[in-house]
Amino acid sequence: MSNKATLNTLLQLKAQNEKFSCLTAYDACFSHFISEAGVEVMLVGDSLGMVLQGRDSTLPVSIDDMVYHTQSVARGNQHSLIMADMPFMTYATPEQALQNSAKLMQAGAELVKLEGGEWLNESVKRLSDCGIPSCVHLGLTPQSVHKFGGYKVQGRTPEAAEQLLREALAAQDAGAAMLVLECVPNAVGKAVTEKADIPVIGIGAGPDTDGQVLVLHDMLGLSPGKPAKFVKNFLSENGGSIQAAISAYHHAVKNSYFPGKEHGFS
Ligand code: KIV
Repeated sequence: MSNKATLNTLLQLKAQNEKFSCLTAYDACFSHFISEAGVEVMLVGDSLGMVLQGRDSTLPVSIDDMVYHTQSVARGNQHSLIMADMPFMTYATPEQALQNSAKLMQAGAELVKLEGGEWLNESVKRLSDCGIPSCVHLGLTPQSVHKFGGYKVQGRTPEAAEQLLREALAAQDAGAAMLVLECVPNAVGKAVTEKADIPVIGIGAGPDTDGQVLVLHDMLGLSPGKPAKFVKNFLSENGGSIQAAISAYHHAVKNSYFPGKEHGFS
């Protein structure tokens, strides 16, 4: 693969009804493997708090942690679009969002991801006005785990599903370049993807979103504990080769073999 993925690549894939894949990456070594496999988007996720730092939530992750890992991922990358997470309490106001997203962009991110609903729209617009593309993460937003009382599927009632759709379209109108939908019923994933003009990436949001994302260590079977319903272990199926597992994941997403029925919520 010689091309470098951009937001335009994703818009073009959406227009052609073609899927794209996304994986989390936290260092230069895995960034190289993921990029070489053709995975269109790499997410420097604040999941690194749990995966790398051994914490029990993403809340303690700092902007300096994110800058360090974004710089590492950028050094290993050749072909993927790099998205970096804004950590907890680094975007509570539009000005704070601007200052902190600038740090991630200067570290090598090409867009930043923020978790939340309509309260974010002013910040999304401010970033967009300043040339910083953003992705709005809706549904199960892990930084709000204590508000939800656990990692629970969101958008299950008709009212909650309607609200999610409203928030998605309002984020788009505010200038968001992409959406992530986490742990919502398949029907909600489908409705948001059909109504939105911008690319929608799902994790536990069913097979109909434009793209899919998994946490790298989850799809390699390296995360402790029982895997979430939406996770599939690609390493065990691919002879223990990390490169083969990443390629198999990319291929499965592109060809709609993953996620299967068993990975979604009804
Ligand atoms: O931090 C992360 O890895 C994420 C994904 C779960 C979407 O936000």
